[in-house]
Amino acid sequence: MFQLKNVTRQFGKKIAVNSVTFDIPQGQMVGIIGRSGAGKSTLLRMINRLNDVSAGSIHFGDLEVSSLRGAALRSWQRDCAMIFQQFNLVPRLDVLTNVLLGRLNHRSTVLSILNMFTREERIMAIGALERLGIEQTALQPAGTLSGGQQQRVAIARALMQQPKMLLADEPIASLDPLNAKIVMDALRDINERDGITVVTNLHTLDTARNYCERIIGMAHGSVVFDGQPQDLTAAAVAEIYGSGGEIEESMTSTSINIPAAQDNIQSAGIKPLALAGL
Ligand SMILES: Nc1ncnc2c1ncn2[C@@H]1O[C@H](COP(=O)(O)OP(=O)(O)OP(=O)(O)O)[C@@H](O)[C@H]1O
Ligand SMILES: [Mg+2]
Repeated sequence: MFQLKNVTRQFGKKIAVNSVTFDIPQGQMVGIIGRSGAGKSTLLRMINRLNDVSAGSIHFGDLEVSSLRGAALRSWQRDCAMIFQQFNLVPRLDVLTNVLLGRLNHRSTVLSILNMFTREERIMAIGALERLGIEQTALQPAGTLSGGQQQRVAIARALMQQPKMLLADEPIASLDPLNAKIVMDALRDINERDGITVVTNLHTLDTARNYCERIIGMAHGSVVFDGQPQDLTAAAVAEIYGSGGEIEESMTSTSINIPAAQDNIQSAGIKPLALAGL
């Protein structure tokens, strides 16, 4: 069981996250939604300790995550992988090496400095790339891949950490609808088949509704909604995003619409699979 208790983060006078409390059972797929500046990224960053909490505490079972230091902190960051909107790969390194970098926290500094990965690690990395359907890109520099492919490399790298929890900060915000679907399907598959808890910030409501069994809505640093997709009524949406015509079309539009996306691709004379890099 993963728990946040009155977690708060201030930047100077600005309260980015304001006394947030919730539990996440192992294996849940949770979407966090909210307007820009609501505190979604800060919340995820505190969970894997890219940011420290200003007050409150974060727990994973008996472990108090928010007070970890040194080797114990690195161990937590291995258990709690994170992927980002901008993928955060090393563009000049080949895809396979980028994926192998996910093992760094598992190994001694000397082996890491020598850039020596074992045969087992390489096999594991190829397996992760195969699972994401991009094994044919293994020897290409990561920077030459499409955005959708790069995000799949980032997911493969996260899998190499053998995490208990996978955090994703707007993982599809830079992707076209077809690649967005491929990436969200991959996150769902990891959640369902491996039982890994997935917590993802999303900026479109319908993606959260389609993929997440639980949705947490944030506004001004606080949780204003926590429930199942079917509980997300118009009133709840208005509370999260603000009422009075402030809800933009992009928040509620169908961002993942495969038939429409394929129509567009076909009308452009491009094979869908080629565009997806498969
Ligand atoms: N390092 C920082 N220094 C100062 N203020 C920060 C810092 N990081 C975040 N903030 C502020 O905290 C608030 C919450 O930011 P956060 O990035 O968590 O929002 P968000 O919900 O992820 O927004 P977006 O949808 O735009 O990504 C914002 O007002 C932001 O300006
Ligand atoms: Mg953010």
